[in-house]
Amino acid sequence: MPEFNVTPYDVEGVVDYNKLTRQFGTEKITPELLNRIKKHCGDVHYMLKRGVFFSHRDMNWLLNEYEKGNKFFLYTGRGPSESVHIGHLVPWVFTKWLQDKFDVPLYFQLTDDEKFLFKEKLSLEQTSSHALENALDIIALGFKKKKTFIFRDTKASGTLYPQAIQFAKKITYSTIKGAFGLQDSANIGQIWYTSMQAVPAVLESIRKKHNVPCLIPLGIDQDPHFRVARDVYPKLGYHKPALIHNKFIPGLAGVQGKMSASSEESTIYLKDTPEEVANKIKRYAFSGGKASLAEHRKLGGDTSIDVSYQWLEMMFEPDDKKLLKIKQDYESGKMLTSELKEILINNINAFLKQHQKNREKAKKQLSSFLWEGEKLRKHIEGK
Ligand code: TYM
Repeated sequence: MPEFNVTPYDVEGVVDYNKLTRQFGTEKITPELLNRIKKHCGDVHYMLKRGVFFSHRDMNWLLNEYEKGNKFFLYTGRGPSESVHIGHLVPWVFTKWLQDKFDVPLYFQLTDDEKFLFKEKLSLEQTSSHALENALDIIALGFKKKKTFIFRDTKASGTLYPQAIQFAKKITYSTIKGAFGLQDSANIGQIWYTSMQAVPAVLESIRKKHNVPCLIPLGIDQDPHFRVARDVYPKLGYHKPALIHNKFIPGLAGVQGKMSASSEESTIYLKDTPEEVANKIKRYAFSGGKASLAEHRKLGGDTSIDVSYQWLEMMFEPDDKKLLKIKQDYESGKMLTSELKEILINNINAFLKQHQKNREKAKKQLSSFLWEGEKLRKHIEGK
């Protein structure tokens, strides 16, 4: 058995991100690359500084193009199988930062087709309505109204399908089988799906009628789709999109795998109440603290396995000074697990209070962010 396994449909074991970059053939983010980003943005986002975004494909090329005056656009997505959880926020919070810094368009794909094809129990009506619910969470994060184009695959097929078949014709069954570990019993929609996820990376090029570089922020689990598709873009006359990959926020139960909606106890949803957040964290958040108070005071806690600390570092404590103080206090035994959990609960609840307010307001904004059917087709065809 391998120690860990990462595909878009399964993340198991304790992921060794160094090994994964070698396995996937991606590049690590270096201090030089961070400096290049800093030059253009004035600062670097805490997720970059802390290695939450750790790997990339072709970021140096993207910045070369940018420095020559070829601005890029952003593309990311969501597979709407259920409610959004805090793990999904990682690529999206970072994508918003990029949109703010570079003032660029963002295409946001909601793959109601994918989740229908891959989730035995979900109907198309369900995935399509989850997609609209999820869109409210996306809008609530504050993306720019006139520059953010959100669409569901099944409602944007007039635009996507003619492009998707171009990709499909150049990807073989054996390539997909190899990349995703699909069995012969897989339905044929699953084999086809990668060609749909490939398309949004060329939409702005079609719209502008010349090649526009594309940057895709995403969890590393989504890399296999683009590893396969990136061989095809040049064959169709497009640039390969650049990718920047994040690590996974672990589930509450421990640093194995990624947070996933399949385990209620392991997951905090953006719709959770303050009480639910507090209860789940108090009961389930895996602690790096010691078994007895005396031992903890003497030896201190282990932040490398403590889920509450990991969540603060990856997402919920952007202030470097505060984070360092928490680390020092916890590792020295001055801070107890219960106190650490209290900080996390307060930070998450403060975030969710604002988010849930924004989400209410987003209901009125939904139609201006949704670009589907004729509206998307006309936008892409420049009519
Ligand atoms: P989905 O809905 O599984 O996940 C949406 C995004 O969230 C990332 N992610 C996580 N990041 C950190 N910690 C976690 N625990 C965690 N769980 C999920 C995913 O890597 C992803 O970036 N097929 C895609 C939808 C899609 C897409 C795209 C994603 C369509 N086009 C382009 C990225 C880029 C999916 O099902 O994502």
